[in-house]
Amino acid sequence: MQKTGFLPRIAMALAMTALVGACSSGATTAPSAAAPSAAAPSAAAPSAAAAAKTFADMTVGFIQTGSESGWRAANTASFKETATQKGITLKFYDAQNKLENQVSAFHQFNQDPSVNVIILAALDVTGYDDVLKEAKAAGKVVVLEDRRIDADPSMYYTYIGSDFINEGHEGAAAMCDLLKAFPADKHNVAEISGAVGASAAIDRAKGFREKMGDCGIPDPTSLGLSQTGNWGVPESKAVMEAFLKKTKNIQGVFAHNDEEAIGAIQAIKEAGLVPGKDIMVVGFDATADGFKSLISGEMGADIECNPLLAPQVYDAALKALNGDTSLPKWVPSQEGAFFAAQGKDALQAILATRKY
Ligand code: AHR
Repeated sequence: MQKTGFLPRIAMALAMTALVGACSSGATTAPSAAAPSAAAPSAAAPSAAAAAKTFADMTVGFIQTGSESGWRAANTASFKETATQKGITLKFYDAQNKLENQVSAFHQFNQDPSVNVIILAALDVTGYDDVLKEAKAAGKVVVLEDRRIDADPSMYYTYIGSDFINEGHEGAAAMCDLLKAFPADKHNVAEISGAVGASAAIDRAKGFREKMGDCGIPDPTSLGLSQTGNWGVPESKAVMEAFLKKTKNIQGVFAHNDEEAIGAIQAIKEAGLVPGKDIMVVGFDATADGFKSLISGEMGADIECNPLLAPQVYDAALKALNGDTSLPKWVPSQEGAFFAAQGKDALQAILATRKY
């Protein structure tokens, strides 16, 4: 689905017969503070005589964050299933959500002569400079998937992942639509953010804050209503419980992923309040569990984040192995948004078509 303009997102979605989140990436140089420069990636062109590499020649060292969410499970499945389909040799490493584990695995793959491609789903925006330098010296192709990092773009081939700032914009617009149910001076929103240091959390928070003023939402931080839920249900439920003990004057929750939204919903209900009526909830990812919360009306909007990135990422890596420098430094995922207002039947029909 194309990125929406200024019409209220809910109205846009309701005007459509069925909203299908077209999860395809368009190679663009969409402006974003997070966007690395669009300079062509560096990759030595093979000699004219060299036969073109194929997926059978590719051995990938994949460094995953961990298994913190339904989104992550779908992302891991995408890389494992696509590697099997394409005949790629995949060495998969689960970092258990520890940066030091990612750096250590990166170093191991740099030392492994069989590995010619390294794919990183970065836990943090920093901490990889030394292993990126080592990879460059070792002639490894490095592709970032899912999340951007604060590194010189010359240190990797390309980044394939979401425009999280735009997702934050979409989340704020959806929240503003939902808060129309309340007086203008009752637009207090609590934020349950993703893991500290993750670009997905940093940029969703930034995007939300750039647009929350459009309907008079005070900064959640200034209200003392912003805290990480570390992408998970239990911790997010505890965070929301603490917020509600502090004040009942909360009209919205901006949760950085579906698990955090679901944790908030559990706390809201246990406090004797009605999610979707007393407090409006916006989440991110649009996983199956997120859709179930939309269908029940407990979540008001779910901003899609596409985890099924493996086909594009492997295609990009093969281009790099063959010296193709045509890709921009960032290929943003095109993503949609879904709303409870679309109605149970429409949402169930869309859910039936989705892979995660
Ligand atoms: O980087 C994407 C984020 O990482 C997803 O929104 C979240 O569920 C995952 O942990």
